[in-house]
Amino acid sequence: MVAQKSLADVLPRAIEFTHAWPDPRDGPLSGSDFLAMMDSPVAVRLLENVLARHARVGILGLGYVGLPLAVELARAGFKTTGIDIDPSRVEAINTGTSYIADVLASDVSRFQRTGALRATVDFAVIAELDTIIVCVPAPFLKTKEPDLSSVIVAAEQVATHLHPGMLIVLESATHPGTTEQIVLTLLEATGLRAGRDFFLAYSPERIDPGNSLYTTRNTPKVIGGITRDCSRLASALYGAAIESVVSVSSPRVAEMVKLLENAFRAVNSGLVNEVALMCQGMNIDVWEVINAARTKPFGFMPFYPGPGVGGQSAPIDSLAIAWTAKQSGFEPRLIDVAGDVNAGMPHLIVELIADALNGRAKPVRGSSILIAGVASERNVDDIRDSPALEVMALLVAKGATVSYSDPHVPRLPASAWGGGRELESVALTPSVMRQADCVTILTDHVVFDADEIVAHANLVVDTRNATGGRMPQVFRLGAPRPPDLGETTIPGGD
Ligand SMILES: NC(=O)c1ccc[n+]([C@@H]2O[C@H](COP(=O)([O-])OP(=O)(O)OC[C@H]3O[C@@H](n4cnc5c(N)ncnc54)[C@H](O)[C@@H]3O)[C@@H](O)[C@H]2O)c1
Repeated sequence: MVAQKSLADVLPRAIEFTHAWPDPRDGPLSGSDFLAMMDSPVAVRLLENVLARHARVGILGLGYVGLPLAVELARAGFKTTGIDIDPSRVEAINTGTSYIADVLASDVSRFQRTGALRATVDFAVIAELDTIIVCVPAPFLKTKEPDLSSVIVAAEQVATHLHPGMLIVLESATHPGTTEQIVLTLLEATGLRAGRDFFLAYSPERIDPGNSLYTTRNTPKVIGGITRDCSRLASALYGAAIESVVSVSSPRVAEMVKLLENAFRAVNSGLVNEVALMCQGMNIDVWEVINAARTKPFGFMPFYPGPGVGGQSAPIDSLAIAWTAKQSGFEPRLIDVAGDVNAGMPHLIVELIADALNGRAKPVRGSSILIAGVASERNVDDIRDSPALEVMALLVAKGATVSYSDPHVPRLPASAWGGGRELESVALTPSVMRQADCVTILTDHVVFDADEIVAHANLVVDTRNATGGRMPQVFRLGAPRPPDLGETTIPGGD
């Protein structure tokens, strides 16, 4: 047995239980109380190893989700092994560098040097590990069906090397039922039983790239295990590295938590995008409205309009929710409508640009449009599903010449944006801005100086309120048109 520790030493500083284990009213639990609760002797051994930091931890998929988690587990004292199919990512970790902006290279280098963190492309290493957290992508196909191929491949690899006493956690954003229907089925096909021989839980990732306030370490982690021991083990593991853990009664509940969070964002983004268009038609500044509304200390949370929803998984949120609902015979209305509103935003941004050019008696065809910011969110380098890519492709389809500036995205391969050729980011210098007919701010990275843009650009369209209403000549999404343009119209309206 490990030396007796208080629960506070070994578990998260704050642990919340939405179901009856353990009842917080029982008072503080010691490490041995905690161990005594376990139902299975195999679980007790693994829990001892987790509490003593002797458990060998594996992370499968070292992306925006997996690498920060691997670093936190290494920081917590676990020997952590990352497994990825991308040899360049493995090489980066093993040479002590970081390719994820939110992860400090100094952390990767320190943990790599001390042996706390290593990476490999060899899945056979799973046989040596006690726990595996699966952080592989789970995107949606053009057919609006989930693509679970990476999750299936990962689960098959784990099954091949599964051994008694392992804890497996799935983090990939998937629909309710995935953990039980896919991962559990593949793992139990080995003959081993969940809750008796191995332990399985779902814990949705909540990463917010570029957010320095809420990181992997201080964002509460929701966990739902197949059995109580599964939840306990996963809570103990995450609790060693993450400040707060919320245990729910099943993987399905944890999976639904992720869907609710995503639906909340999709619906509120749709609402505010719609209100922005309404305000624009009514000569009201939506940004002023939101800033005033957010002073309400209860019952309101600000969301901001933009060229899409923003966020890596945001555009697929509505697809995921709609698909899940339809699987259970439910026809979601609100979520579908919000998804449509959000998906229409790139077209409306192009109309806004066309209106702005029209005010200068210029057609879109033949105009040169310089896009400031193509990443999906402020200060990140992720372009997956970024609405900027669609805006650019739509402009090219209308005959515009498009260039872009984004210090986080040096290059845009032709395949990434559908404009038929590779683009390189240009520096946002006064002469570059002057040469463009219109500079359009699509992602408001902090490095962009809005005053400089307005000072040098011939025409500015601002979809993020980066210019803050200080310069009346700027075309801002959701705000009154510059004064010399006469009648306003709602883009896309009849
Ligand atoms: N990044 C975000 O902001 C974000 C937000 C919400 C949800 N998510 C979800 O989190 C999950 C992971 O996303 P991410 O952003 O970390 O993805 P990512 O693309 O940054 O990283 C995934 C990593 O997994 C690796 N990989 C793919 N298939 C693999 C396999 N079979 N075995 C081992 N490695 C494999 C890839 O090479 C890559 O390094 C997804 O379900 C995603 O939808 C991410």
